[in-house]
Amino acid sequence: MPHSQTSESAIHRRLAEIHRRHLSNTSGQVATYIPELAKADPNAFGIAMATLDGTVYEVGDSRQPFTIQSISKPFVYGLALEDRGQEHVLKRVGVEPTGEAFNSIVFDERGNRPFNPMVNAGAIATTAMVAGDSHQHRLNRILDLFQRFAGEPLTIDEAVYRSEKSTGHRNRAITYLELNSNMIEEPVEEHLDLYFRQCSILVTARHLAIMAATLANNGVNPVTGERALEPRYMRNLLSVMCSCGMYDFSGEWIYRVGLPAKSGVAGGIVAVLPGQFGIGVFSPPLDVQGNSVRGIGVCEDLSTHFSLHLF
Ligand code: DON
Repeated sequence: MPHSQTSESAIHRRLAEIHRRHLSNTSGQVATYIPELAKADPNAFGIAMATLDGTVYEVGDSRQPFTIQSISKPFVYGLALEDRGQEHVLKRVGVEPTGEAFNSIVFDERGNRPFNPMVNAGAIATTAMVAGDSHQHRLNRILDLFQRFAGEPLTIDEAVYRSEKSTGHRNRAITYLELNSNMIEEPVEEHLDLYFRQCSILVTARHLAIMAATLANNGVNPVTGERALEPRYMRNLLSVMCSCGMYDFSGEWIYRVGLPAKSGVAGGIVAVLPGQFGIGVFSPPLDVQGNSVRGIGVCEDLSTHFSLHLF
């Protein structure tokens, strides 16, 4: 475990070394299906690690903002659990991996539910459960959630939000299918709008590390000391991150890296070592499964060098 057994400068040196090693890996492609994401700089690359005493180690472009995208999904799942309780949520969204892509249109036979809250179908159904008196109130509650986790005010990238809202026909189709099968209820355009906005929240690798450390710290942000989420739902979040967070790469990820994690198409990855610390990596080029190529490499190296594998 890095913090107790390795000095701070040794951790920083190791991060810098890993950053240098992966910088030369130029494989992967930046996401283009959301037109605005195609403008991402493929060379941008940052790594951050936050410990439970609130120390943050960072190298490279760790303070460069990018949109959180699917990394928002486990956090909003936590909010839905707080708002509705486990039974209500489980009845509507399962916890089985799909073995399919993040935007797959498949529902389970057990309860006609999306398979899990990490694929788009499950995440949209999860966002639909976020409570509030109005669209604005629900959006404020979602933003507040992320701000508690990151420990700082966050904003939405309006260009990315508009870009996805105007081209996200597949997500819109998924949402209407879910409405048709009574998986979700009206107002579906509002749910979709909230989903597109939650995906467009701007974060940095540093934020992701602190958010992950907050999960590692049973829901309390180790930098601000603020509680971000009820502790009783932490194991639900971490379990689905473990089994489904990296989509159809989740099995190999847990085998190789051994940490609950979540990726996003803007190139971010969060990984959590419960009770120890959080990792945030940012590098836009993705592999065919939609996971950051350098992000995977960095997490594998960190896991090996610091013996982080849970098992
Ligand atoms: O719904 C979408 O397609 C995006 N807003 C988020 C997808 C995503 O990040 C998938 N992750 N790798």
